[in-house]
Amino acid sequence: STKLTIGLFGFGVVGQGLNDIIRTKDLNLEIKKIAIKNPEKRRTLPEELFTTDSSIILNDPEINTVVELINDADAAYYIVKTALQKGKNVVSANKKMIAEHLEELLHLQEQYGTSLLYEGAVCGSIPIIRNLEEYYDNELLYSIRGIFNGSSNYILSKTFNDNLDYPTALKQAQDLGFAESNPILDVGGFDAKSKLVIAVSHAYGVLTNPDDVFNMGIQNISPKDIQYAKEKNFKIKLVPTALEFGERQVVLYVIPRMIKPDDFLFNVENEYNGVIVQAAFADQQFFFGKGAGGHPTGSAVLSDIAALRYDYKYEYKKYRLNNAYVQSNDYVLTI
Ligand code: HSE
Repeated sequence: STKLTIGLFGFGVVGQGLNDIIRTKDLNLEIKKIAIKNPEKRRTLPEELFTTDSSIILNDPEINTVVELINDADAAYYIVKTALQKGKNVVSANKKMIAEHLEELLHLQEQYGTSLLYEGAVCGSIPIIRNLEEYYDNELLYSIRGIFNGSSNYILSKTFNDNLDYPTALKQAQDLGFAESNPILDVGGFDAKSKLVIAVSHAYGVLTNPDDVFNMGIQNISPKDIQYAKEKNFKIKLVPTALEFGERQVVLYVIPRMIKPDDFLFNVENEYNGVIVQAAFADQQFFFGKGAGGHPTGSAVLSDIAALRYDYKYEYKKYRLNNAYVQSNDYVLTI
């Protein structure tokens, strides 16, 4: 197969995780350049590999693959868009950017005959996009729900199980490299919402604007709520949900919910994520794995890079459904 010559954007938690994995393997690929924002930071790789000038990568005809792993969604949008327009294939893990611009990015792929893959953007190491995209073609998916954000789940686990206070738990999630640079994206349910919007495009062929989807985060959960949950032997989890109703509609929302012990999500703790797919014939299926961190997310990114070798492209069920609705009256915390 063609050798992949990669231009990498970003060398943070995920970029370094990906680099670690690539170096343990004998793959027919080369990271030719790495674009970074801050040239002052100490790096573990030779200096000549790095640049602060994005255009060096974007204008290099030898680079056929762009891997975008930066945290600034607006800068990422420009990079991904330009790379696709220049005929390069792209792998990205930028859930916010992808959820916000999916429709346009899809048209760009068609127009320029390129491919954009982003398994690492949704639930880290769990191959949920590939499964929603390929496996359930003959199924009716009643619902998809789960835990899509490692940081908020980490905070909930630590406050619930270890009695840590909220700021300490958040600080730990940040130190471990799980949190977004702006943690309100995690704790406010925005990150989980981006991932839900992306998942739904593959499950149902619905393209939705994340601003139209209701989200409520975990930042206002009180000690009283936690106390109540403990008394009932429940846990509180931040649960993005998509439900199909009728033949033409999907309803989406992200809310904290009381979870009972017989629910698969009950034992999903810390930075782990879980996805429950409820299908008409397969019935209930549960995916479980690490949802954040350099190596788990890097492994999903590498899987996408490898898939580019056989020209893998997403189909989005060819936009099967027309509508997605917000349901804003279902966010009761107690049951
Ligand atoms: N901040 C995200 C999380 C990183 O905590 O899940 C993985 O997308």
